[in-house]
Amino acid sequence: MIRIMKEFFLLETRGTAYCFRVTEQGFLQHLYYGRRLDLSGGWEALVPQVRHFPGNGAGLEGVCLEDMALEVSSPGLGDLRESMVTVRGPDGDTLTDFRFEGAEVLEEKPELEGLPSAYDEAGVCRTLRVSLLEKRGGLRLELLYTTFDRCDVITRSARLVNLGEKPVEVLRLLSSQVDFPEQKYLFTSFNGAWAREFEAVRTECGPGTIVGGSRTGCSSNRANPFVMLESRGTDEVHGECYGFHLLYSGDHFECACGNAYGKLRFLHGIQPEGFSWRLEPGESFYAPEAAMTCGWGAAEMSGNLHGFIREHVVRGWWKRRVRPVLVNSWESFYFRFTQKDLLRLARQGKELGAELFVLDDGWFGRRDNDRRSLGDWDITDRRKLPEGLGGLAKRVRALGIGFGLWVEPEMVSEDSELYRAHPDWALRVPGRSPARGRNQLVLDFSRQEVRDHIYAALKRVLSSADVSYVKWDMNRSLTDVASFCLEADRQGELFHRYVLGVYELQERLLADFPGLLLENCCSGGGRFDPGMLYYSPQIWTSDNTDAVDRLRIQEGTALIYPLSSMGAHVAACPSHTNGRVTPFATRGLVSLPGCFGYELDLTKLTEEELAMIPGQLENYRKYGPVFHGGDYYRLASYGENGEYDALMSVSKDKRTAVLDYVHVMSRQRRRSVLLPLRGLDEETLYRSSETGEVRSGAGWMYGGMVMPCMTGDSTGKLIVLEAV
Ligand code: GLA
Repeated sequence: MIRIMKEFFLLETRGTAYCFRVTEQGFLQHLYYGRRLDLSGGWEALVPQVRHFPGNGAGLEGVCLEDMALEVSSPGLGDLRESMVTVRGPDGDTLTDFRFEGAEVLEEKPELEGLPSAYDEAGVCRTLRVSLLEKRGGLRLELLYTTFDRCDVITRSARLVNLGEKPVEVLRLLSSQVDFPEQKYLFTSFNGAWAREFEAVRTECGPGTIVGGSRTGCSSNRANPFVMLESRGTDEVHGECYGFHLLYSGDHFECACGNAYGKLRFLHGIQPEGFSWRLEPGESFYAPEAAMTCGWGAAEMSGNLHGFIREHVVRGWWKRRVRPVLVNSWESFYFRFTQKDLLRLARQGKELGAELFVLDDGWFGRRDNDRRSLGDWDITDRRKLPEGLGGLAKRVRALGIGFGLWVEPEMVSEDSELYRAHPDWALRVPGRSPARGRNQLVLDFSRQEVRDHIYAALKRVLSSADVSYVKWDMNRSLTDVASFCLEADRQGELFHRYVLGVYELQERLLADFPGLLLENCCSGGGRFDPGMLYYSPQIWTSDNTDAVDRLRIQEGTALIYPLSSMGAHVAACPSHTNGRVTPFATRGLVSLPGCFGYELDLTKLTEEELAMIPGQLENYRKYGPVFHGGDYYRLASYGENGEYDALMSVSKDKRTAVLDYVHVMSRQRRRSVLLPLRGLDEETLYRSSETGEVRSGAGWMYGGMVMPCMTGDSTGKLIVLEAV
């Protein structure tokens, strides 16, 4: 709900409130964000009394912006903190003085031009649009706030319009700014690298600035575009826990900036370094959408984000459907395979109950290694596939299993027909030998003709083979970012234009192939962000397919993203990533909560392993809906205790709960592992599939469940509780 009471604005969701007011001078003063408040005694008490006036600070019309909590700030007026908006005007200075112009409540959730944004199917969301005018009159800034009541999320975005007669240069337009009255938080970001995504890193806030973000051209595995601000001592169920997310897949920036008077500013948006955008008269620039939530304890925050992403970000036919069990060819064959090999794997997959066969890299051009052929999507490698892609797909489908395909549309190999014909289509700085990543260059997706060419080729390929699933990969970061088609003083637009180009192509793909299941991938989880989830309901979580490493990676991922978005496959042992050996059953348990599949040669399994597959698939079909559609709880973290890991999901009707337990390190213990369960209905009686014991939800939650004793490393159990 959104209320405007004269100069006061109140945004409420089921459990949170966010408020600000317009000051006499026309600034937007932020007043509160947190748990819902009782404002029946009036909102005025929220306005802080000014207790000090910084000695050598600048005052403006009786206020000192250096120490005022603001909804938006820009440089040049005395606010010394990082700004949300910086524009170089026609006179060359960057002073902008935005003052309140007007506000209205829209009975809808507007889309953002060319960008992914949260949507509202039920038509219950309301949006507050506040506009501010720059005092010299040349710019209008619109701030948009939408409340997503049930998941306690508020989204923000901003639009800048050039009302003047001359172009201006936007140096930054971030998506959101939230000023907190205290600095008592930990800034928790999710950093990592290839094969070790989503490691939580906690930094204490205080005076000074903590900066996070990405500079790889994509949201990146180095830093997810998500930050948690948690009060010290926060755990799963206690403590203020704010989650800040960005629906954006390019370079991002997040910072917590503490001022000298105990306040903390959180900013989130497009990475400003290297960014600039020329805004011509009459044009608008849209900042991507940011989403924020506030929970009591990390579990509530996760639950809010999961609900938001599942209901308001993920779209299309697959939105609420448990995804097909797939068999992917990559770790079985890498680049080396024949049609016969593929069909053998697909047949075995089908016989064991899989629903989709995915042909990964290596099928096009002369792709014997990663040095060649990217870009030649139209040319099937007939040495490997003598009947062409269409021929192979037909045979696969004749087995009664769907056919999916890997592509990497944003890239080009120098050894390719495409590059020979269009060397200027790659990003590169004239006169410089470009850096290569995985031996490849990046196509200039800011250019329409490049996108059109790639799209036309993809469309032909997908239509020729009746492809029902696409894995869209992106395997290097962006360097040498210069376009042959942009004027010199517009090159700062290129990173963002590139991302808009990726969005445009994925949108076209979904429009032309509405039932298509798209899975994004970026050397694993290098572009795991809500922007991508707007196009693909699932993302390949990591190239690290070792079950033990995956526990930590998936825990970090699931703190932010729903289990239904995480690609998780059973892979071969010894692990291709780190050589570790884990039992087949445990690999199944670790993959089960995500989008399940097999990434190994099923024709090489032992009889014993083969015999486990029907059970794994039965569990996925039965409990996939609970993992993907229910409420998720972290019960124990192997990353923290070094011994065991447990997660559980409870169906929305609270009739079924599934507990996925993995005991990684076998140790002599003083007592068995006792886990208090969560999320059950206190009064309902539940029977444990493990012991047959029946207890009330309260009994399981407060008394806890004793985990079965198992010997050996990396053992585990799936335990189901059904209401009786
Ligand atoms: C990336 C992906 C892998 C696989 C390879 C193929 O590394 O993350 O899953 O598709 O590319 O080259």
